[in-house]
Amino acid sequence: MARVTLGGGLRPPSDGRHPTSSGSSLPPPGSRSARAEPALGAPIIRLGAVDSTQTHAATRAANGAADGTAVVAETQTAGKGRRGRVWHDIPGASLLMSLVVRSSLPVAQLPLLSIAAGVAVAEALSAIGVRAPRLKWPNDVLVDGRKIAGVLLERHGDAVILGIGVNLDARAIPAELRAQATCVAEAGGGPDRDALLAGVLDAFARWRGRLEGEGFEPVRERWTSLADTLGKRVSVDGIVGIAEALDVDGALLVATERGPSRVLAGDVVAG
Ligand code: BTN
Repeated sequence: MARVTLGGGLRPPSDGRHPTSSGSSLPPPGSRSARAEPALGAPIIRLGAVDSTQTHAATRAANGAADGTAVVAETQTAGKGRRGRVWHDIPGASLLMSLVVRSSLPVAQLPLLSIAAGVAVAEALSAIGVRAPRLKWPNDVLVDGRKIAGVLLERHGDAVILGIGVNLDARAIPAELRAQATCVAEAGGGPDRDALLAGVLDAFARWRGRLEGEGFEPVRERWTSLADTLGKRVSVDGIVGIAEALDVDGALLVATERGPSRVLAGDVVAG
């Protein structure tokens, strides 16, 4: 049986790209209509039901979608999580979005976009009132140690498809994951999905810009300031020790009994 991770979703200020509340309602669950909205920047494609916004955005990217194109859905029938997991959602209970990113970064540094995205999601959640969002390496967003949002980065040709799922209300969380997950409604955040969407888009554009323009260091510092993982005893894919730092390439530095170890991928659990 597929391991289930969490889905979820949310809405911010009107700046021309992002719609005002009155014009931003998602189509009703089950709708398959899609519309591209006029914007200052790249379009926001709003869908009712879709298999996965990742798949939809990848197809759009292959057909030439512009950098920054955002695909947002009310519900997914085959939502994808990290490491082959399923991302569960209930219609309307999550922010489900994928961004087409055509980055100037060298290929080897593209995974750093997911670290920048984690930072952006944490900041956007904070801006809508969520209490103290923290980052679990590499890019889960937690509140009080429970997951509220996840980030998935996939490469498709020369584009990166950056998927973000946020639990908006408790319906997004399957019963068996209630102890490990939380949602915006429980964490003090406002109910305006478009406010969160706009906040994520704005914050990601800012951090991505810094990553591409200044290198990883500013993102690394911000991630570190928001980190939940550092200083804790962890176990990641068989490596056990104290999580000490985010390395200059995004790896997690773990102090083990045998010395320092670098973790490039995996799931952090308490060690
Ligand atoms: C994780 O496992 O933590 C990452 C989850 C990413 C889920 C989002 S929901 C929107 C986008 N479409 C998908 O199918 N997955 C991502």
